[in-house]
Amino acid sequence: MNRNFTLLVASVFAVGALTNCQNTTEAPAPVAETVFYGDTSVRAELFDDPHSYSTAESVVSRLYWEADVDFEKQIIRATALWTLGGKSIGDSIVFDTKDLKIKQVKVSGLPAQWHLGKSDALLGTPLVVMLNQGDKEVVITYETSAESEALQWYPAELTQGKRMPFLFTQSQAILARTWVPCQDRPGVRFTYGAKVKVPKGMLALMSASNPTQKSEDGIYEFSMPQPIPSYLLALGAGDLAFIELGERSGVYAEPEMVRNAAFEFSQTEDMISRAEYLYGPYYWGRYDMLVLPPSFPFGGMENPRLTFLTPTVIVGDMSLTSLIAHELAHSWSGNLVTNATWNDFWLNEGFTVYFEMRIMDAVYGPDFADMLEALSYDDLQRELAVMLEEDPDATRLKQNLEGRNPDDAVTAIAYDKGFHFLKLCEQTVGRERWDAFLKGYFDTYKFKTRVTEEFLQELAGLMTQEEWNTVGVEEWVYGKGLPANCPFPASNRFYIVDEAVKMLLGVSPEDPDAKSMVYLEQDVTIRWTTHEWLRYIRGLEAGGATVGHYRLADANYGFTGSPNPEIVAAWYTAILKTDFEGFDPKVYEEKVESFLTTVGRRKFIVPMYASMLEGDEKRQAWAKEIYAKARPSYHPLSQQTLDQLFADHQ
Ligand code: BES
Ligand code: ZN
Repeated sequence: MNRNFTLLVASVFAVGALTNCQNTTEAPAPVAETVFYGDTSVRAELFDDPHSYSTAESVVSRLYWEADVDFEKQIIRATALWTLGGKSIGDSIVFDTKDLKIKQVKVSGLPAQWHLGKSDALLGTPLVVMLNQGDKEVVITYETSAESEALQWYPAELTQGKRMPFLFTQSQAILARTWVPCQDRPGVRFTYGAKVKVPKGMLALMSASNPTQKSEDGIYEFSMPQPIPSYLLALGAGDLAFIELGERSGVYAEPEMVRNAAFEFSQTEDMISRAEYLYGPYYWGRYDMLVLPPSFPFGGMENPRLTFLTPTVIVGDMSLTSLIAHELAHSWSGNLVTNATWNDFWLNEGFTVYFEMRIMDAVYGPDFADMLEALSYDDLQRELAVMLEEDPDATRLKQNLEGRNPDDAVTAIAYDKGFHFLKLCEQTVGRERWDAFLKGYFDTYKFKTRVTEEFLQELAGLMTQEEWNTVGVEEWVYGKGLPANCPFPASNRFYIVDEAVKMLLGVSPEDPDAKSMVYLEQDVTIRWTTHEWLRYIRGLEAGGATVGHYRLADANYGFTGSPNPEIVAAWYTAILKTDFEGFDPKVYEEKVESFLTTVGRRKFIVPMYASMLEGDEKRQAWAKEIYAKARPSYHPLSQQTLDQLFADHQ
């Protein structure tokens, strides 16, 4: 056992003390015995998940995964030993697979009868294994393939240290099936253990108990005693170092980056305690983070015990740590109480944004949280305007994604409309009643799934008829667009930014004194953090800034040279729509190209390419040229999104 173990026991012990379920004078028991296991049986009546082939008759309850990670061939050779659970074992069991090579299937130690069903481009291929009465175990030996979308094999040359390649997985929403044959639906939970072999000199990590040091032989063992759905299965491997942040948190990153990461995330422990204070014990033992290569298509992914993070939030001033608050919040909303199907995705993300804001309010103060809320409101308005034109049905909280990719639901609706709805509920019943309600909700349904309707039933138990009507619950959840009673977040700090925007837009850039007329005193802007600059740039865009205004802003505040990816991405997105007149094209072209060939975070690069594609033919040709160069280093998910974007602009 590694040195994590003492910490781990200590933290479980702390949770035990909090929940008052453990005698503090006794020696702490091993983690597997102290955590709540939850109920892994599946509610057959809710087994209506359009994104999995698995059925209610036979359901798994535990995985033991043995894997050999081959960086040369870029495949994983593995054996998945599934233990069956539940009461209702049928005469077959169905697993989801996609782009896997199945080599052998055994049931209760003997070669099994099995077959692969018809393949679907989105859902993959069902693997049907015949069972006899009393069978308890299915062992599947298989290999991943070059097509496995959950895997990104990142070449050594592109890493910071350039010594070793990096591998990471992304299972949400329905990609776990591309690296582990599984019942790939949020409604099935299982515990897991694993033994993974990677090249010597590498560290391997999973969404489980983790080592903090490299082993001699490249072999690592993992255990996840709390039951999780398949979309939370995760693996990362590379040249990684670990720094402890506090009693139960730490960060893994390439050695070149790990110190900066530790500084940036140094408030993590505080966030965990604030979160526990709000909504009850943290049930997962440790909370560690893994900093991924810049090609990671998301900001973060809430893999239990090991959040995966983009390096683009490491900007030196802790201004982007709401991402940590968000992924940490998923330890309650999502990982503990899970959306039963992807149609209920807003239950995961809307609750998490709400919880994120509460953590940020507690740790950074209300002025900071107000800025985040105002940006969320802005994102929502901007996306709604487009969605109401293109796909109004997608603006409902409760979705019907049958036949569609659940990724289609990753929009401001689930996140920001969901957040504003919950905020309105809070305002209507008052914070005290609301917090008690949420705490109880997380406790009652821990390690379980919920559909939207079940949540509404609980909500009806909390609210009076009058409160329910005031909110207009049904309209919020099932209606299109944004109800008129949506709370409007006001922000003091943004008030000043908006004044600055007006000031800039009010001058004529041709005026010889323009530069000094709009230069804000150092002591105003010196306190601005990322979010104020984002508001400023977006304000210029929304206010119809000309290229002259942008030039003026850049001369005063140096956006082009900013080391903050969040700021430069917003900046380029705005600038790339203009004709560049007066900017040094050489400088711009180089910077844009170098950003797009190193960063693969979808939130940044998709709007940048979209801006370029709005331009003239030359600009479009340039976008295509950069994409052709950059594409191989992007994650399969970013490749898919961008292939689509370019196809739409043919
Ligand atoms: N769970 C999501 C990421 C996700 C959602 C991946 C759906 C695949 C399918 C994660 O918690 C998330 O919301 N990430 C955001 C963070 C942001 C809202 C703070 C992101 O990556 O932008
Ligand atoms: Zn999230």
